[in-house]
Amino acid sequence: MKKASDILIHEHDVIERVLIILNIVADRLENGEEISGETFLQCVDFIRNFADHCHHAKEEKILFRLMEERGIPVEGGPIGMMLTEHENGRAFTRGMEEAAKRFIAGDISAKDDIIANARHYSELLSNHIYKENNILYPMGDRLFTSEDQHYLEKEFERVEKEVGGLAVHEKYHRWVNELESLFHLEKNTNN
Ligand SMILES: [Fe+2]
Ligand SMILES: [Fe+2]
Repeated sequence: MKKASDILIHEHDVIERVLIILNIVADRLENGEEISGETFLQCVDFIRNFADHCHHAKEEKILFRLMEERGIPVEGGPIGMMLTEHENGRAFTRGMEEAAKRFIAGDISAKDDIIANARHYSELLSNHIYKENNILYPMGDRLFTSEDQHYLEKEFERVEKEVGGLAVHEKYHRWVNELESLFHLEKNTNN
């Protein structure tokens, strides 16, 4: 049987690929390369629809709640910390979106805000993912019975349907692949 944490770790892998892209585009923008503000808005769209609506929803509405029911405290504990980090991530995402829109409208000074928010988000999420993969998820897996795992799998499927199902995953997987090959191509050209 598939464990709930396996599904979430697989989603982390996709999110981490976008974090790498975010760092690359932030570096390139800082180095004076022409990076479109749209690229950052596409990353914002991925973060909202995939990382938040699809992934964080499974954690916040399902996994963390069951962990709480199994005795892990929310306040002052690891779940509370994860929830705060989700909120901080949303604030950096809003900051990145707002700065990218200003940049697209011709405000060059928005560049520094795009770079700062992209880097802060990437650093926050990469540490967050490390903590979930290595501390929080194993903690849950030690507590959950096989019925719990079955319940989580069913609930995750329900969330998937609510947010658009397989089509959403396919859309963003395709987008990540395209962006990666775009940057690899540029790298090859530069070499
Ligand atoms: Fe999380
Ligand atoms: Fe996560």
